[in-house]
Amino acid sequence: MSDKRKDLESKISMAHLGGGKDRIEKQHAKGKLTARERIELLLDNGSFEEMGILVTHRTTDFGLEQTKFYGDGVVTGYGTIGGRMVYVFAQDFTVFGGSLSETHAEKICKVMDLAMKTGAPIIGLNDSGGARIQEGVRSLGGYADIFFRNVMASGVIPQISAIMGPCAGGAVYSPAMTDFTIMVEDTSYMFVTGPNVVKTVTNEEVSAEDLGGASAHSTKSGVTHLTAANDADCIEKVRSLLSYLPQNCEDPPLSKPYELGEEVREDLESIVPESSSQPYDMREVINCIVDEDTFLEIQPGYAENIVVGFARLAGKSLGIVANQPMHLAGCLDVNSSRKGARFTRTCDCFNIPLLVLVDVPGFLPGTDQEWNGIILNGAKLLYALSEATVPRVSLITRKAYGGAYDVMNSKHIGADINYAWPTAEIAVMGAKGASEIIFRKELNEADDPEQVLTQKEKEYADKFANPYSAASRGFIDEVIYPRESRRKLIKAFAMLENKVVNLPRKKHGNIPL
Ligand code: HXC
Repeated sequence: MSDKRKDLESKISMAHLGGGKDRIEKQHAKGKLTARERIELLLDNGSFEEMGILVTHRTTDFGLEQTKFYGDGVVTGYGTIGGRMVYVFAQDFTVFGGSLSETHAEKICKVMDLAMKTGAPIIGLNDSGGARIQEGVRSLGGYADIFFRNVMASGVIPQISAIMGPCAGGAVYSPAMTDFTIMVEDTSYMFVTGPNVVKTVTNEEVSAEDLGGASAHSTKSGVTHLTAANDADCIEKVRSLLSYLPQNCEDPPLSKPYELGEEVREDLESIVPESSSQPYDMREVINCIVDEDTFLEIQPGYAENIVVGFARLAGKSLGIVANQPMHLAGCLDVNSSRKGARFTRTCDCFNIPLLVLVDVPGFLPGTDQEWNGIILNGAKLLYALSEATVPRVSLITRKAYGGAYDVMNSKHIGADINYAWPTAEIAVMGAKGASEIIFRKELNEADDPEQVLTQKEKEYADKFANPYSAASRGFIDEVIYPRESRRKLIKAFAMLENKVVNLPRKKHGNIPL
């Protein structure tokens, strides 16, 4: 081999070693894979093409000119997942703790720009000590260059962030602006200020894990959409998520081959209990309706009174927003409204049709809710659904009370098809509450108020606790047998496939953020 070829070979093998064998061993000892190992798992075999492998930093401060590593702490390039083009960057913790320098940021921006130009998803595997401290404002500028691109790419191409190590300071804002964040349990964390700063400012003692680990962000803050047991699981989840998303906002929803059968689901007949106050698991309804084993729940541990996620219906990607009677009786509150609104917008920007399953007794009452802005947050869900132009179908399984009836994809806010089961109760409120208000005078004057209340409750329930008043006005298109739901929904979404809606001309709407 000629000297020139040997020179190249030696540079490439140095680059492949990142920060060196010792640091790679340290990374493995923490149960973490290296940046290159992660990319290998993520992409189809042999599909990765690396860019910028020979980039080094330009810093001369603090003696840094003596220490340079090829690649400068981030591996970037493109490849395929399931045969589809994606762009990827993976921060290499073995090089300066994966910290972000000016050149490190330039490499990330380069693949983000290409992803935008060619209309393909971008996946970031984050594992970094944040801004490269020796570079000062140049690294802050690098972050801002990435943030700006995150915003420009938002709604154009899918952006997925895997958090596979530290992610602190302003570095958290890039993942926060992407479509999905997946955190690895026990080895990753995200916070704006770490435990030491928290202790200094508020005197609270908290560990990094409690403050910003996967558990905190999947149950308390809602920052992360999914968690993973380890690096390999995290990467598998990225691949799975991507299988529901199109390449970009111009592409139709993904479709896998599917042969239609009878599509009758008898199990659906017995899921809703006789008593309207008894809970049941809306996930059972979802799993009976969608193609087998295709439901991928998003944010499963956060605001559990609403269930959101992707599935396939007759092979086609579908987004689902559903009240969950198992938690808070399915009431809408601040967090569930935000969760539902965000997911609705994610589906809408990527042309994924929406199925809304309704069993909602109303908005959650209380000072906590009012003072935390249930008005503005409930409005987010109302706004997001009203604005969504993808095919939208609703199915009311049981309660659809009050304002929540309007919000949960009612005909009035633009739903295309509205179904109800015979068990549906579409009314201003529950029969008991309604009777106590409208028959207050009779109840006060009655010798036996309990007996009168029972009788009035029955009268009200007979009149309104059913889907027929709504169906007689056309607010419900059809009252269907539960077992027919899957078949009806497949046909409805097929009918809506070529739906086109043009919103009024505007710069952008002003969703109550
Ligand atoms: C330069 C860094 C670095 C950084 C880590 N290293 N973070 N180098 N800039 N930000 C280097 C370390 O010096 C060390 O080098 C190697 O990476 C591994 O780090 P360790 O500390 O040995 O690893 P570990 O014990 O696992 O701890 C990881 C860590 C810790 C928790 C991330 O390194 C840490 O606290 N780093 C600083 C975090 C931080 O404050 N970042 C700035 C945030 S502010 P050697 O040579 O010894 O192996 C910010 C602003 C962004 O990011 C704003 C955008 C708007």
